[in-house]
Amino acid sequence: MTGAMATVGPSIGGVRLNNPLILAPMAGVTDQAFRVLCKEQGAALLVTEMISDRAFLYENAHTSTIVAFTPAERPIAAQLAGVEPETMAAAAAKLEREVAPDIIDINMGCPAPKIVKNHEGCSLMRDVPLAAAIVRAIASAVSVPVTVKTRKGWSEDQVNAVELAQAVVEAGAAGITVHGRVRGQYYSGVADWNIIRKVREALPSSVPVIGNGDVRDPESALRLMSETGCDAVMIGRAAMGNPWIFSRCLAAWRGEPVPPEATLAERVAMAGRHLDLLIALKGERTAVLEMRRHAPWYIHGFRGAAHVRALLVLATSPAELKATLSDFLHRS
Ligand SMILES: Cc1cc2nc3c(=O)[nH]c(=O)nc-3n(C[C@H](O)[C@H](O)[C@H](O)COP(=O)(O)O)c2cc1C
Repeated sequence: MTGAMATVGPSIGGVRLNNPLILAPMAGVTDQAFRVLCKEQGAALLVTEMISDRAFLYENAHTSTIVAFTPAERPIAAQLAGVEPETMAAAAAKLEREVAPDIIDINMGCPAPKIVKNHEGCSLMRDVPLAAAIVRAIASAVSVPVTVKTRKGWSEDQVNAVELAQAVVEAGAAGITVHGRVRGQYYSGVADWNIIRKVREALPSSVPVIGNGDVRDPESALRLMSETGCDAVMIGRAAMGNPWIFSRCLAAWRGEPVPPEATLAERVAMAGRHLDLLIALKGERTAVLEMRRHAPWYIHGFRGAAHVRALLVLATSPAELKATLSDFLHRS
């Protein structure tokens, strides 16, 4: 699909997206600071980092920070992880009441051992009736659209994304994201986009299917849409240190000239803004710790970046982080 064929993104249960480009939820990455930067570059929908239903219900202070967002971030989906329909529904109702996200997304794709050992995340793919029961319980507890984010299957022997998608839509899901990897692949290997096409073909056209996995640039974003017929694409790792992925993909989708990749000067400036936003949100100490992870992504691929990375991860103050980046810029 190109801009010649569509001028707006899909509608997810009545939430209209301006374009088909969605920032993937990434725990430890897609906090408010980073989401704001991606939104500025054109991301049509943001998703919070995943939150545990129980942690949210029990008022864990960290969890409340995870779901906080500003009006400028709308439309935004809050992502819940959990396994019991009752606590998931209670957490969803509390989310709607206290935070009012536009969409509530359910995590049925996380492969992390600490999640799947509780039968949450991707493990729910192994119990389709339970997955459907969770969606049914949440959908009847809230008035906002409920979506599901899932994978190809639990393993190559248990590829059941189509079955799961049909069951959760039947239970009330207004949209589904499919990451084309099985649980055991985590994030390695190549995403299988065929499964996204199969899910798209199996569901009514009124239910948007969001393709996910290995979108790296405008070319792959458009190809994922044209090869699978999916209604939108979700971009994860390629956005790390690279919010411009959204403006570049957006131009391509609109059929406009794609802007060049950001220069090193633009990257250093963006990293500085990212740090300032983090400081405003979380205070200097946490901001510096978190920026030690983000900053190397901004300069990844430039000559000498590996050496600077070692300095960045040792930085102890905002000034030191900024000076290290600006030295790198002026020496390059
Ligand atoms: C560091 C990291 C954290 C992630 N956290 C979440 C999460 O909280 N919820 C979720 O549904 N997926 C999570 N994912 C998966 C991504 O949303 C996405 O499905 C995956 O990275 C594949 O997309 P990509 O190839 O564009 O990166 C995470 C991925 C990464 C790399």
